[in-house]
Amino acid sequence: MKLAMLYEGKAKKVYKTDQPNELLIDYKDDATAFNAEKKAVLAGKGQLNNDISALIFEKLTKAGVKNHFIRKLSDTEQLVSAVTIIPLEVIVRNVAAGSMAKRLGIEEGKPLERTIIEFCYKRDDLGDPLVTEDHIFELGLATTEELQAIRQQASKVNDVLSQYFDDLGIQLIDFKLEFGRKQENGELILADEVSPDTCRLWDKVTGEKLDKDVFRRDLGDLPTTYRKLLERLGAAQ
Ligand code: C5P
Repeated sequence: MKLAMLYEGKAKKVYKTDQPNELLIDYKDDATAFNAEKKAVLAGKGQLNNDISALIFEKLTKAGVKNHFIRKLSDTEQLVSAVTIIPLEVIVRNVAAGSMAKRLGIEEGKPLERTIIEFCYKRDDLGDPLVTEDHIFELGLATTEELQAIRQQASKVNDVLSQYFDDLGIQLIDFKLEFGRKQENGELILADEVSPDTCRLWDKVTGEKLDKDVFRRDLGDLPTTYRKLLERLGAAQ
C-alpha cells in the first residue's frame, strides 16, 4: 500500500509503504540534464523507464547481482527494498564519451584500453564533483570493504549488461550506478535505477544513440527513442 511521499527527485518520487523495509518508486515523465538546467516533461517517459529498468534489474538478479528491485506494481511504479543510499555516483566507462571525453580531451567514441570506474560525490549544490578514493574515505562515505564490493559489483554489472546489450546489437558505452545499505541488515546492494537515463547505449551498426543524450543534445524525440529500445529489450525476453 502506497503511503506518504518520502522524497521527490528529478525523475522519481519515493513513497513509504505499509512494509517497513519496502519502498515504492514512481517514475516521473520529467527529463532533466546538466544538473537540471535543462528540463522538459515528456509524456510516457516514466512508464518507459519503469519498464526498462524492471527488465534490466530482473536480468541482473538472474545473474546474481543483488539489487533493490522487488517487482513492478503499475505502469510507472515499482516496489523496492528500502536502503540508505551511499551518496556516490559510480560511473563505469567502456568507451570515451560525455564528461570524461571532454575533461581529458579524448575523442568521443574511442574505445578505452581498460574499463574505467569513476566516483562522483552526489551533491547537487557542488555539481556532483569527481572524487578519488581518498576523498571518499575523508568524507566518510564508504568503508574500504564497501568500496571494494562496489567496484566488484559495478564490474559484474558491466559484464552482464555489456553482453545483454551486445546480443541486441547495442554497445554499452558507459553508465552510472548507485548503491545503498539495506535498511533491514546493512547489506550493500545496487539501488536507484538502471535505464537509458543513466546509461549511454549506441546501436552497433548505425551508431544511433538510444539514451538520454538524445534529450541532452537535442537529437530527436526521447520517448520515441526509449520505445525503440524497450522493443529491442522486450523482444529478447
Ligand atoms: O556525463 P558523463 O559522461 O559523466 O556521464 C557518464 C554516464 O553516467 C552516462 O551514461 C550518464 O547518463 C550517467 N550519469 C547519470 N547521472 C549523472 C551523471 C551521469 O546517470 N548525474
